[in-house]
Amino acid sequence: MPDDTRRWMSELTAEMEERRKRIAKGGGDARLAKQHAAGKASARERLDLLLDEGSFVELGAFVEPLHDGIDAPGEGVITGSGTIDGRDVFVFSQDFTVLGGSLGKMHAQKICRVMDMAVQVGAPIIGLNDSAGARIQEGVDSLSGYGEVFYRNAVYSGVVPQLSAILGPCAGGAVYSPALTDFVLMARDAAYMFITGPDVVRSVTRQEVSFAELGGADVHARRSGVAHFVADDDRAVLKLLRQLLAYLPQSAREAPPRRVSRDPETRETPELTELVHPDPRKAYPMLEVVRTVVDERRFLEVHAGFARNVITGFAHLGGRAVGVVANDPSVLAGTLDIDASDKAARFIRTCDAFNVPILTFVDVTGFMPGLAQEHGGIIRHGAKMLYAYAEATVPKVTLIVRKSYGGAYLAMNSRDMGADVVLAWPTAAVAVMGAEGAANVLNRRQIQAASDPDAMRAKLVAEYRARFDNPYLAAGRGYVDDVIDPKDTRTALVRHLTRLEGKRVERPFKKHGNMPL
Ligand code: HXC
Repeated sequence: MPDDTRRWMSELTAEMEERRKRIAKGGGDARLAKQHAAGKASARERLDLLLDEGSFVELGAFVEPLHDGIDAPGEGVITGSGTIDGRDVFVFSQDFTVLGGSLGKMHAQKICRVMDMAVQVGAPIIGLNDSAGARIQEGVDSLSGYGEVFYRNAVYSGVVPQLSAILGPCAGGAVYSPALTDFVLMARDAAYMFITGPDVVRSVTRQEVSFAELGGADVHARRSGVAHFVADDDRAVLKLLRQLLAYLPQSAREAPPRRVSRDPETRETPELTELVHPDPRKAYPMLEVVRTVVDERRFLEVHAGFARNVITGFAHLGGRAVGVVANDPSVLAGTLDIDASDKAARFIRTCDAFNVPILTFVDVTGFMPGLAQEHGGIIRHGAKMLYAYAEATVPKVTLIVRKSYGGAYLAMNSRDMGADVVLAWPTAAVAVMGAEGAANVLNRRQIQAASDPDAMRAKLVAEYRARFDNPYLAAGRGYVDDVIDPKDTRTALVRHLTRLEGKRVERPFKKHGNMPL
């Protein structure tokens, strides 16, 4: 090559390097130092922490803002693909050092590009969100950008897993894209989510609230239910993201990956007999029951702080990923209320969308009674659970641990609601209601007329218990497929799930169902 051509070539390469360096610096050293001082990693450091070493391939690094006069290196978002445990993922990582990670039209289009590719390839989309919302300087163009992202979040829902890490103060439009995805993970102390911040809240409602009170990680994990997971900082969130992916397939066309387990499939579980008290009024930790059954006691709880009367989460059983739904009799006596119904229904639909079989542990007295629940729409919310279980076509196995009464018996995936296999322990009781309530309804006059009403009630309750509070009436009708010794629980569940692996269900044609919302 002639010297002048070589020189020309090296000038071009140097210019490219210079431009790349400027983009890589994001909003500059001072803003990066502020980010680090707040205990937050940079957008690029986060990608390094999330992805397998050296696997990141960047796309669109040189994209510029749509409007002149806006200085936004890289458009404030880093986009591309990489691998996690060797599996492909598509990612975007918003850079708060560039105009607060605010979203302009081209920022949105960079995100849309990787979303489209993820769906064409069949791989999860992971968003690392750290954004002040719509870029004010871009006006309607930034709103349009959000529209393009939200549209894809909805249309691609159920096609590939969509996961959102919230790693900074996400405001305005920045919260709705995550809310449309399958999982939201927040970093404690660094992440906030709100539609409008404390200043606007003060001017509109005169309420004084802090960032944390308004939209901190604990608020969203415990009260609003917006966040499925909370971890201490962004590093911990990124680690959790990697763990979560191990239970999910690449797309709806695939099964979740198998995990090699050293836990024998036929391991007996005699400790379960000690754990669960046969008296239906005595509480016990259902989480411990779940852990005892699953591979290596490993259970990734989803929505752990929200509506704790129902437990949801992922585990492996015989190396296969399963989604677990379980009543927790140690919280609100394990009744199903509005939040528990929403939580369980959402989780069931997530499992079904991504071919994760559902395992249901039942110990439930019913839906929560009371004015607040009725007025809050327990009918509408409880219906979501009925709908979600009935709609799900993945293998569904139910284990009735103790009581299973009334509407909640149906809502916890009974045979009639589409369970493939229902098992029960000898401690199980399937009935319209508990013995006390039943005796009062059926024998009120008899109790009132008795010389000793309390003794009469106790006698009737005992009679009712002897007759109805057992699994054999339900098993006699085929509603329960088998009554098993608790020590055989793991073996039985592994066997049934293995047999059900090839399950395929055809449903009548429809455009889409009309789930109560
Ligand atoms: C453009 C913005 C911005 C925005 C912040 N910045 N918000 N630039 N558009 N929306 C810039 C700041 O000017 C600053 O630039 C840098 O980002 C960091 O912001 P700070 O305020 O210094 O950071 P901090 O103190 O950490 O506060 C972060 C924040 C706050 C809480 C997010 O910036 C804030 O409240 N921003 C406005 C949030 C908001 O109201 N967004 C909603 C937009 S409406 P310099 O140059 O100083 O570094 C919306 C509607 C969409 O999103 C609707 C869809 C449904």
